[in-house]
Amino acid sequence: MRTQVAIIGGGPSGLLLSQLLMKEGIEAVVLERQTKAHVLSRIRAGVLESGFVRLMDEAGVVRRLVEEGFVHEGAILSFDNEQVRIDFAELAGQTVTVYGQTEVTRDLYDAREASGGSTLFQVEDVVLHDLDSDKPYVTFRQHGQDMRLDCDFVAGCDGFHGVSRTSIPASVRREFEKVYPFGWLGVLSETPPVHDELIYASSQRGFALCSMRNANLSRYYVQCDLSDKAGDWSDDAFWDELRRRLPDSVAQSLVTGPSIEKSIAPLRSYVCEPMRWGRLFLCGDAAHIVPPTGAKGLNSAASDVYYLHRGLRAFYGERDSAGIDGYSAKALARVWKTQRFSWWMTSLLHRFPDRSDFDIRMQQAEIAHLQELRAAQETLARNYVGLPY
Ligand code: APR
Ligand code: PHB
Repeated sequence: MRTQVAIIGGGPSGLLLSQLLMKEGIEAVVLERQTKAHVLSRIRAGVLESGFVRLMDEAGVVRRLVEEGFVHEGAILSFDNEQVRIDFAELAGQTVTVYGQTEVTRDLYDAREASGGSTLFQVEDVVLHDLDSDKPYVTFRQHGQDMRLDCDFVAGCDGFHGVSRTSIPASVRREFEKVYPFGWLGVLSETPPVHDELIYASSQRGFALCSMRNANLSRYYVQCDLSDKAGDWSDDAFWDELRRRLPDSVAQSLVTGPSIEKSIAPLRSYVCEPMRWGRLFLCGDAAHIVPPTGAKGLNSAASDVYYLHRGLRAFYGERDSAGIDGYSAKALARVWKTQRFSWWMTSLLHRFPDRSDFDIRMQQAEIAHLQELRAAQETLARNYVGLPY
């Protein structure tokens, strides 16, 4: 088999890239380890920057997102009983769209199938070869058969546990990591959201988040210990703990119900440099992870896809390799800014078990700074709606 771009991983990064390339007439094959049903069973964050929405539009996959997504002009930050509304529209001139990542992925799969693009599922033992030559290829097995895919380029979109990143020689690769001493316990419930905007709540008992999927589907989180097990948290215990972390007026209007999903995610910040080696380009979770506090995981993947797509378009269209040569530096410059914001939001809002008295005062001063200074709120708003790319 031969293609122009071999895309490893059929998550949102790989699929969005494949559809954008298809619009330019650049051929790609997507290799996905799991089944489509498995990929679509993952529940992830659901806040889309307008840059992401523009890319979906460019890929021709924006219709349902526009029809069913909710445009949010602001979000609430609460500190015990005090609330600050960050007005994105006024402070940053932009909005965000709340639309589940699972739905984004479903729309991308539907578009890929409708356009006849090739996606191979349940591929095993993917190995990348000759990445430092101009004739790279990928070997893998599917349904017991050994296969080979020759290509011009490999896009490593296979997430944090994929094979692409580790195909960059260890002598070249540099990794930066911060692991936070807590996790997020998340619950999905068929109840109306407590508020029509997201509420990021910082309290003496720890962080909580009120989010949503639609008018009768809510997503809530509470900061928990890393040793906690989701199964040990009853629904009642979850709702009680959530209520205690919200301002009284919000807690009183919370509608609770049975959870339809409950899971714990650890929080980490991670970046791999460089994001390009020879003919391999890393995109999304394969190259970087953020804690979910700023809702930047998917959005950060999208800017990588944007830079890579533009680079490949110029290469195939005009034989101009400046875009692909500059890919790693350009993508990383934005990745690090997004890392900074996600780390800052996480540090501002969580309760750190190992903090010193000095750290507590600094956190309090940071909160006061944000409450009092419009410029600080503007910085938050500009980062939340998404830095330009
Ligand atoms: N071979 C083929 N596919 C693989 C391999 C492999 N060796 N390893 C992993 N994959 C697949 C996974 O099964 C998954 O479907 O790659 C895909 C990677 O998808 P994601 O982990 O979702 O990563 P990405 O597409 O970069 O999405 C960006 O935004 O909100 C964040 O972390 C969240 O998924 C999210 C991300
Ligand atoms: C979610 O809706 O799951 C969500 C929203 C915002 C975040 C994280 C997760 O910052």
